[in-house]
Amino acid sequence: MEYMQLNNGIKIPALGYGLFMVDPLKSEEYVSLAIETGYRLIDTAQIYNNEEGVGNAVKKSGIKRDEFFIVSKIWHTNAGFDEALKSIDLSLKKLQTDYIDLMLIHMPYNDYYSIYKALETAYKKGIVRSIGISNFDTGRYIDIIYHSEIKPVINQVETHVFNQQKDLQKAMQEYGTLIMAWAPFAEGKNDFFNNSILKSIGEKYNKSAAQIALRFLIQSGIIARPKTVNIKRMKENFNVFDFILSCEDMKLINSLDTKKAVIGDFSDIEYNKYVLEIKM
Ligand SMILES: NC(=O)c1ccc[n+]([C@@H]2O[C@H](COP(=O)([O-])OP(=O)(O)OC[C@H]3O[C@@H](n4cnc5c(N)ncnc54)[C@H](OP(=O)(O)O)[C@@H]3O)[C@@H](O)[C@H]2O)c1
Repeated sequence: MEYMQLNNGIKIPALGYGLFMVDPLKSEEYVSLAIETGYRLIDTAQIYNNEEGVGNAVKKSGIKRDEFFIVSKIWHTNAGFDEALKSIDLSLKKLQTDYIDLMLIHMPYNDYYSIYKALETAYKKGIVRSIGISNFDTGRYIDIIYHSEIKPVINQVETHVFNQQKDLQKAMQEYGTLIMAWAPFAEGKNDFFNNSILKSIGEKYNKSAAQIALRFLIQSGIIARPKTVNIKRMKENFNVFDFILSCEDMKLINSLDTKKAVIGDFSDIEYNKYVLEIKM
């Protein structure tokens, strides 16, 4: 495993396991398999309704809590300082832990300043070890920087070879905020796993398109955490630390960047409405 350093000095694994759309009833089983495979960064969210499964798997693993890096996110319907703090307490209960390694504002909707204030309070109390945001574009990012005391360590945004987020990454560099990629495989869209550039580079290293895509993110300073409920693919996605992409490979993959979201287009009113209407 490789690690990156957050702007508060905490070490974070460069690769994790994500649980979006993972059946709450099966989440414990899949997280247990992920832990057996070697994953220690686990990404869940209040809205995924599978924090409990994560907590069970971590507890039953017998591995020391401090070897894990647990990420969760506050949904926008939990806005309001008191509500957000209460929701953190509930996440702690479901995750069966005294602290969450990284807690994010899931979406830049509703009164997210109040959520951020709650996160700062939770950070000072030590019940979250680091705080951040998700789906904040450059404008909203700099706004939260100007109106916060503790700078976000992470902005979790849709990031993959087709949407490399270079401008956002550059803008956040000054404050040390890293990108954590969501949908590192663009959820398989645009025939992701058969992309000819990824596949031809993969042939050189005896790796799949998926492994090349993950390696590209990690070498770009981006934390990746793909989702899979397939044990073979869990192992495949984890096996990306025994090779290094050359500068030429990196440049070639850079050429795939369209600078456009494939899944979550926040400039599309209908997409925003769709997300706003998802209730806990
Ligand atoms: N902050 C946010 O707003 C936000 C939004 C979306 C997602 N996320 C987070 O990001 C994580 C990952 O994103 P995502 O789940 O949307 O999409 P993703 O990781 O880009 O893609 C997941 C899809 O790829 C398939 N897959 C996984 N590994 C594969 C491989 N090696 N070869 C072929 N197919 C493979 C999976 O199918 P199988 O399961 O059948 O293998 C699944 O259909 C989520 O789980 C969640 O934790 C966050």
